[in-house]
Amino acid sequence: MIKTIEWTDEGVRMLDQRLLPAEEKYLMLRSYEEVAEAIKKMVVRGAPAIGVSAAMGLALGASQSVGTSVADLEDDFDYMCKVMSETRPTAVNLFWAIERMRQTFRREQSKDTRPEAIKACLIAEAQQIFTEDIAANRALGRFGAELLADGDTVLTHCNAGALATAGDYGTALGVIRGAIDAGKRIAVIADETRPFLQGLRLTAWELAKDNIPVTVITDNMAGHVMKSGKVNAVVVGADRIAGNGDTANKIGTYMVAVLAREHKIPFYVAAPISTLDLTLKTGAAIPIEERDPREVTHIKEHQLAPDGVGVQNPAFDVTPNELIAAIITDRGVARAPYVESLQGLMATSAVGSGG
Ligand code: MRU
Repeated sequence: MIKTIEWTDEGVRMLDQRLLPAEEKYLMLRSYEEVAEAIKKMVVRGAPAIGVSAAMGLALGASQSVGTSVADLEDDFDYMCKVMSETRPTAVNLFWAIERMRQTFRREQSKDTRPEAIKACLIAEAQQIFTEDIAANRALGRFGAELLADGDTVLTHCNAGALATAGDYGTALGVIRGAIDAGKRIAVIADETRPFLQGLRLTAWELAKDNIPVTVITDNMAGHVMKSGKVNAVVVGADRIAGNGDTANKIGTYMVAVLAREHKIPFYVAAPISTLDLTLKTGAAIPIEERDPREVTHIKEHQLAPDGVGVQNPAFDVTPNELIAAIITDRGVARAPYVESLQGLMATSAVGSGG
């Protein structure tokens, strides 16, 4: 199993995804500031993985707080939450995880007035978020597996695999792994995903590691490949899903969805419930991160664009709900009209919770 993030006695251990596939190097992050920096710099990336990392970073920071009273710990913790919330704006799992940690703090504070007790609960909650993420992806993998047929070729964009989550299955790749575990033969076409190359570097790496057949294409080949009849379904992950099903995901996803519609190929989104943001009516309200132009003009240290040219680097786009055939979650599969189906899933108990 790929270990994306791990809680250890020394700190938070993370696979440095910037170095893949050339190097498999783990970093030990020993403070909440280091975890926040790792999220910002994309040592770890992918919506669920960002959420789990933030929770672990907060638990780590709280455990190191030297204040002697609960009030001191609360001041420190509030500040850490602020720092963590300023790392990346689009993936709602970040804010979901911070809010869950805040709620844990408040709940424990009302029961026990010792800082040490609150710290222990925050560590337990971060570990619980990690465990739940793995279980959620297994569950959505089982639901999604039913949408794929034996022999299908699935096109995916970016990396929504083990690396983008707490580890193990992933979301979009969780659906593929779920289908394979159900005995189906599935091949994958991975979009390269300019400019950060998550498809080329990360999706190809983790699928190859699992011996799942994968073929890499550059993003501008997707239309040609679909037209030639080689793609049976598209499955992507999500960074934030609005109440009407509009979905923010890696830049280029929208383009793939339009192409899929043109070629009558079902376009599926796979995400855990923690990626739903039902406070937003539509995708128009989703904040889109703008990243360093250098990611576009350079490949590593090598400059490709002429000096001084204008550059845009939006990291995400929004796919309108009408292009989405279904949203696969850990609580079941939602279909249009999404306002009702997503609210219904949100109100359902988690699989395995006994509710
Ligand atoms: O910028 P990134 O690499 O964090 O973007 C990741 C994506 O867009 C993923 O597709 C998304 O987070 C889903 S991950 C299960």
